[in-house]
Amino acid sequence: MMCWRIHLCLLVALVQVFGIAAWTYTDDFVALKSLKDEWENVPPNWDGDDPCGHNWDGISCSDTRVISITLASINLSGHLSSDIKGLSALETLDLSYNKGMTGPLPSSIGNLQELSSLILVGCGFSGPIPSSIGSLQQLVYLSLNSNKFVGEIPPSIGNLSNLYWLDLADNKLSGTIPVSKGSTPGLDMLVHTKHFHFGNNQLSGEIPSQLFSSKLTLIHLLLESNQLSGNIPSSLGLVQTLEVVRLDRNSLSGSIPENLNNLTSVQELYLASNKLTGPLPNLTGMDLLNYVDLSNNPFDVTGIPPWISSLPSLTSLILENTHVEGQLPVSLFSLFQLQTVALKNNRINGTLNIGSNYSNQLQLIDLQNNFVDSFAQRGGYGPQIILVGNPICDEGGTESYCVVPPQTNSSYSTPPENCTPLPCDSDKTASSTCKCAYPYSGNLFFRSPSFSNFGNSTIFASLEEKLMATFMSHSQPVDSVTVSNPTKNEVGYLVLDLQVFPSGQDHFNRTGISRIGFILSNQTFKPPHVFGPFYFNGNNYPYFADVTGGSHKSPSTSIIIGSAVGGSVLFLLLLLAGVYALRQKRRAETAVKKNDPFGSWDPSTRSGGVPQLKGSRCFSFEELKKCTNNFSEMNGIGSGGFGKVYRGTLPNGRLVAIKRAQQGSSQGGLEFKNEIELLSRVHHKNLVSLVGFCFDQGEQMLVYEYMINGTLKDSLTGRSGIRLDWMRRLRIALGAARGVQYLHDLADPPIIHRDIKSNNILLDERLNAKVADFGLSKLMGETESGHVTTQVKGTMGYLDPEYYMTQQLTEKSDVYSFGIVLLELLTAKSPIERGKYIVREVKVAMDKTKEMYNLQGVLDPIVAANMAPGSVEKFADLALRCVQESGLNRPMMSEVVKEIENIMELAGLNPNTESASASESYEEAKKGFEHPYTNESLFAYSGGYTPSKLEPK
Ligand SMILES: *[C@@H]1O[C@H](CO)[C@@H](O)[C@H](O)[C@H]1NC(C)=O
Ligand SMILES: *[C@@H]1O[C@H](CO)[C@@H](O)[C@H](O)[C@H]1NC(C)=O
Ligand SMILES: *[C@@H]1O[C@H](CO)[C@@H](O)[C@H](O)[C@H]1NC(C)=O
Ligand SMILES: *[C@@H]1O[C@H](CO)[C@@H](O)[C@H](O)[C@H]1NC(C)=O
Ligand SMILES: *[C@@H]1O[C@H](CO)[C@@H](O)[C@H](O)[C@H]1NC(C)=O
Repeated sequence: MMCWRIHLCLLVALVQVFGIAAWTYTDDFVALKSLKDEWENVPPNWDGDDPCGHNWDGISCSDTRVISITLASINLSGHLSSDIKGLSALETLDLSYNKGMTGPLPSSIGNLQELSSLILVGCGFSGPIPSSIGSLQQLVYLSLNSNKFVGEIPPSIGNLSNLYWLDLADNKLSGTIPVSKGSTPGLDMLVHTKHFHFGNNQLSGEIPSQLFSSKLTLIHLLLESNQLSGNIPSSLGLVQTLEVVRLDRNSLSGSIPENLNNLTSVQELYLASNKLTGPLPNLTGMDLLNYVDLSNNPFDVTGIPPWISSLPSLTSLILENTHVEGQLPVSLFSLFQLQTVALKNNRINGTLNIGSNYSNQLQLIDLQNNFVDSFAQRGGYGPQIILVGNPICDEGGTESYCVVPPQTNSSYSTPPENCTPLPCDSDKTASSTCKCAYPYSGNLFFRSPSFSNFGNSTIFASLEEKLMATFMSHSQPVDSVTVSNPTKNEVGYLVLDLQVFPSGQDHFNRTGISRIGFILSNQTFKPPHVFGPFYFNGNNYPYFADVTGGSHKSPSTSIIIGSAVGGSVLFLLLLLAGVYALRQKRRAETAVKKNDPFGSWDPSTRSGGVPQLKGSRCFSFEELKKCTNNFSEMNGIGSGGFGKVYRGTLPNGRLVAIKRAQQGSSQGGLEFKNEIELLSRVHHKNLVSLVGFCFDQGEQMLVYEYMINGTLKDSLTGRSGIRLDWMRRLRIALGAARGVQYLHDLADPPIIHRDIKSNNILLDERLNAKVADFGLSKLMGETESGHVTTQVKGTMGYLDPEYYMTQQLTEKSDVYSFGIVLLELLTAKSPIERGKYIVREVKVAMDKTKEMYNLQGVLDPIVAANMAPGSVEKFADLALRCVQESGLNRPMMSEVVKEIENIMELAGLNPNTESASASESYEEAKKGFEHPYTNESLFAYSGGYTPSKLEPK
């Protein structure tokens, strides 16, 4: 009797241990367990043997596979075990802001072939960066900044052809910057990387000339505060995409290459504290420059360079100790964005005359230790002026400008929002909405802000607003955000304290902290453009409800087993173990199968073998169901012939748009596969990119990146609240044209879109245009075998009449539709409005002999208000050429792109700067709130957060 009871207990216990919940792919569980054993302070729910099924904090899974580990700011400590290699499906690893994570990065990390984000910001990792990192072919984000890595930058990083973000700053890296040589790779091969952040290391030697070429697409080159020597290579002038260049605080010598001012997109230029000689660089033509710091270099003695008063965007001119002599021109001070002029320790002489027309943002003119002997003061209230150490102050002048002012730190902090802050208990803090809570805190570091007036609260308020909007759009439980105490650190970074307050409760849980940490660590958050590149360093968050309780394991099953295992039981145990092993094996097989999206398809139809699915993921139906809240109406954002479109949030927080084929309208599996292969091969910054797809349970779905500002149509009709001025329209036209041109000329095989219209041109957060729905024609259930004769489809109003009549589809049909879009941009009218056809309306109104071609009557008033002379006429000419009756007379898309570029140059715009970002301002950040989905709960404001409080008066 007794004996049977024991057996029964044991049976139950064993089933609990081995069976029921074990759901996670075995290798993944084993690897995670090994990591966990090396770590302290793992989340208390890391218990049991099913990380995926039991939603371990910080772990995300796709089916049974662990695809992401994000554990920011939880005081995790220990080493990263080489068993990490077992997590072979891992896409994201973010252990940022855990200073207790120490020891080397294991070389086995190179086995994680799916890894796309490796983010270890602000930890205590040391030792060399393993060379194996170069085999992570999918890597997009590599952020190892703010650790203690030593040794050289591994040349193998040059193999990471998908890398977008490379941040190795704030370590102890030494040696030279590696460039390729023979079969050895180097950083010059990273032609898709936009960010080289290598500041605050001990890199030495010359900056290799070979590092730079016109193939690079870098926008931020940050090499400040290293030990680099030798000349600045003139090849730098070939990297036309650069926006921020920091080479300051090195030992660079020689003269600055003359072609520096070929870099016309640069906004921040720091060359200070080197040993540069020769003349001051010629910055004429660098019209986007905001911040220039050339201080502390032994340049040859020169007069005042003429460019200082001709840089229209200048906010900050820092030329201390540079051997400049002569009298400052009064025109310098009327640059309308000017904030700071710092020219200490030079030979500025004569009269300081700031005129009466000086910039209303002008805050400081520091001319200490120069030769100024008089000062023309106009009006009372003006910028702070310091002339200590000039002849004008020699005779014990008592004027305010003859006194060195005390160092004052501007002290921005968020004002309370229509409420009275009450004192909070013990260690809680009051938010700007007057709630006491435990905020998540840390520091934001901006590596090259384009402004120097840290006393301007509007700018910080815009940062808070953007932070809040980002957390909201990723559905984070955030009540409010404050930034405070702006200071400049020794390398010139703007440092801010950040506090993020929880909503609903007085503290965050681990999931909340890890998501918010990830939004900040992986650059999901994009600050307003004036702040430039940044990183965040978070503090530990010790306020989880369970922190004192520690991890509570259920009464250990091992005790039961231990006490029960007796001779007679052993047999049963072995038997069960055998069953378990079999089950796990089967499970592993199904897991593998699930991981191959087409595994279940009939092999005979799998012509060509393994499908080419570059960069796109297979989702299960359940996953997409979950992330759209069961395809709820609330998440519906559109519909079309193909089916419905839903907004969804992936477990990693990324927003996506999901197109779900209507039951019945879907096509055969093989066609679907072909279609996806085609789409996943097409990559261009002006095409909406495919994130993944779902072919499961009879469903066919395509998952696209989410475009936060909706369709061009919505903006033109005013529905989205975004005001598209002429400059923005030109940029949108160019972006869309480049996207279509790519489909025609560079996609292989070429793709004819067939449905170009303003509803298929989407706008991202920076109003970059991206073309959507290309290649979808086939998804509507039609097979096409390379023939150009097809059933006519398209949208009324955009349809090429020639195609309609002959059914011969060519690229020129897309050109026709594109011409209609150009006319929409001009007039903001629908192609067919109240029975009137836009082409006819424009042709009838147009009279080339009259001013503005006599188009005033049909132009959109917003265009009429601020167009550049001549550009509208050229634009109208182009549009009408595109809609010529005969395809032969229409231009190719490549010509259209060229012509729009010409028009932009005519209008004073640089067609190669990145979108509206260059002018992204507080204004735009604010408008972002009115995008078309605002009223669809994307911004579910909680607490008292109201964007309108920031409305500038
Ligand atoms: C300047 O930039 C152009 C591209 O806009 C490039 O063709 C040219 O070679 C550059 N000139 C120099 C001197 O680097
Ligand atoms: C400076 O550059 C501009 C634009 O490239 C050029 O027109 C001008 O001649 C240059 N000035 C000097 C002094 O070299
Ligand atoms: C200022 O210095 C320049 C160069 O040394 C000299 O030519 C000029 O005469 C000086 N002007 C005044 C007003 O002293
Ligand atoms: C503060 O910044 C905003 C936006 O950049 C600007 O429009 C405003 O003039 C600035 N105010 C002052 C006092 O400088
Ligand atoms: C953690 O917080 C999020 C957001 O407030 C909530 O959705 C989730 O259920 C919480 N998790 C736990 C385990 O309480």
